[in-house]
Amino acid sequence: MSASIITDTDTAAQALRAGQLVAIPTETVYGLGANALDESAVLKIFTAKNRPSFDPLIIHQSTPERILAYASEISEEAFKLAEAFWPGPLTMVLPKHRSVPDMVVSGLPAVALRVPDHPVALELLSKVDFPVAAPSANPFGFVSPTTAQHVKDQLGERVDYILDGGPCRVGLESTIVAFPNGEATILRKGGLPIEQIEEILGHRLAVKTHSSSQPEAPGMLSKHYSPGNHLEIFERLEEDQPIPAGSARIVFGRGGKAISYDDKRLITTYDLSPNGELAQAAQQLFTFLRLMATHNYPFVAAELLPETGLGRAINDRLRRAAATE
Ligand code: TXA
Ligand code: MG
Repeated sequence: MSASIITDTDTAAQALRAGQLVAIPTETVYGLGANALDESAVLKIFTAKNRPSFDPLIIHQSTPERILAYASEISEEAFKLAEAFWPGPLTMVLPKHRSVPDMVVSGLPAVALRVPDHPVALELLSKVDFPVAAPSANPFGFVSPTTAQHVKDQLGERVDYILDGGPCRVGLESTIVAFPNGEATILRKGGLPIEQIEEILGHRLAVKTHSSSQPEAPGMLSKHYSPGNHLEIFERLEEDQPIPAGSARIVFGRGGKAISYDDKRLITTYDLSPNGELAQAAQQLFTFLRLMATHNYPFVAAELLPETGLGRAINDRLRRAAATE
């Protein structure tokens, strides 16, 4: 099997109804979608991604009302966030409704819900009468895809269709919020800056994103987003930083070209946003990490971005990409 890249949401909806796998565009990253209420379709997601069964899936629908129907209890804060940020790069973990199969939530009592902000995804979701389970459409542990071609390159033999909605606007996965003991807590930094959530709720949020051997947010293993190169993180990369010839550097806000090559030192520099815009850096990050793998650089030096807004999520991904266990 080799997936066809399509743009027609009727074909995609029909395939989902038939229990097939369809990669779908969202504003964050491409997802690997299947009917969340059909256990044999959901099983195909885990198999295609090589995803461990303890890592639960996010389910998606076209409106807050339609997706909240899969929660059994919705707190006041959850309502506020739904109203403020859906459709958008926010996922909320809420007590699950009994209609959601255990396989989707890896046996947990709560389910992750999201309304993506992408016209093609919303059109597709509005055509089906079930929620669509969709993890990022990459093999487990690797970088998330932000174009239809990325999906085709990595999972082309394992999905039935790839619905092309163009390059993802945000480029980082959704921010995940859970409410353990009723307290809004960040489980994954992502495309919605934490500061914006705090502004709506009127208080600071706990951030609980780290876990390695005993994952609480199961997908939050330290080592993730791995491009496969030896990647090292620096607070700031000075021009004269001694790094080996043939290496690559990932920097931010240096005002030059996005990609440049230093003939003397044989070093390639990738600037996530020459003008220092965090949104652009987020959008480019996974494409650049993929280029690290494609060019097979033996050593990659990456500098951290300002630890604010989207910079927090970008730094999180860089640190995970550099993690060795
Ligand atoms: O932007 C996104 O969120 C993308 C697009 C396709 O929507 N999806 C995505 O899914 O990034 P995925 O599977 O790569 O990451 C979802 C993570 C899981 O690894 C897990 O950490 C967390 O969401 N999660 C899902 N269900 C959960 C639950 N019931 N309790 C706690 N964490 C959960
Ligand atoms: Mg993922």
